[in-house]
Amino acid sequence: MSIIRLDKYLADAGAGTRSQVKSLVKAGRINVNGVQAKDYGMKIDAETAKVLFDGKPISRQGFIYIMMNKPAGVISSTEERNDQTVVDLLPEEIRRGLFPVGRLDRDTEGLLLISNDGKLAHRLLSPKKHVPKRYYAVVDGMLDEDSVEAFASGLDIGDDKPAKPAILCIMDRGGSRSSAMVTLTEGRYHEVKRLFNAIGRNVIYLKRVSMGSLELPDDLMPGQWRALNMEELDMLKEIPQYL
Ligand code: URA
Repeated sequence: MSIIRLDKYLADAGAGTRSQVKSLVKAGRINVNGVQAKDYGMKIDAETAKVLFDGKPISRQGFIYIMMNKPAGVISSTEERNDQTVVDLLPEEIRRGLFPVGRLDRDTEGLLLISNDGKLAHRLLSPKKHVPKRYYAVVDGMLDEDSVEAFASGLDIGDDKPAKPAILCIMDRGGSRSSAMVTLTEGRYHEVKRLFNAIGRNVIYLKRVSMGSLELPDDLMPGQWRALNMEELDMLKEIPQYL
């Protein structure tokens, strides 16, 4: 057992300073073991208590794991003088120390993990782990079996080395526009756009739908976010060695 005060638990978990977390409790935003907390000095068992902040689990280990459906027009960084960042879309009380795990272009939507767990971020982004990332893309023009083979062969996208083989799964091969799922195991700058450019196509719309075991839920709309649930977090932490 590890009995501590609720306000200490919340501050350790990165929910805010000691005085900020007191306000959170007073505002009724904290729930402990299924009951809305009324007293920020209440004692809880830090090992077993289920603490929710605005209905989302928060852990005293100090780590926060958020999935966001990044909207277009927002930058994947922590600070930007003139532009809105993904971290700006989160409540101020939990922003401290959070950063996006990897980047999506300003005009790309979709799954973005935001955390303060540098170790996990490093493992997820390590080129050695080859964690697959899947994107839904709409492009101009036709896609066909040659496009699939070109992606699988490892295209020259203008870097020193060709891109790693990528899986192109055509969904709609219409005349003026086509759509497809693309799975990459590396994360070079503008990689999906450059792969399509290498076969003479331009990306019109791009959305990331998964990263390793983590899938973007259908009901998470652009701009919305939620904490990972325990199952998602456990699966994400067990990063296998992908091929
Ligand atoms: N590839 C791109 O071209 N853009 C992204 O945002 C992500 C992958």
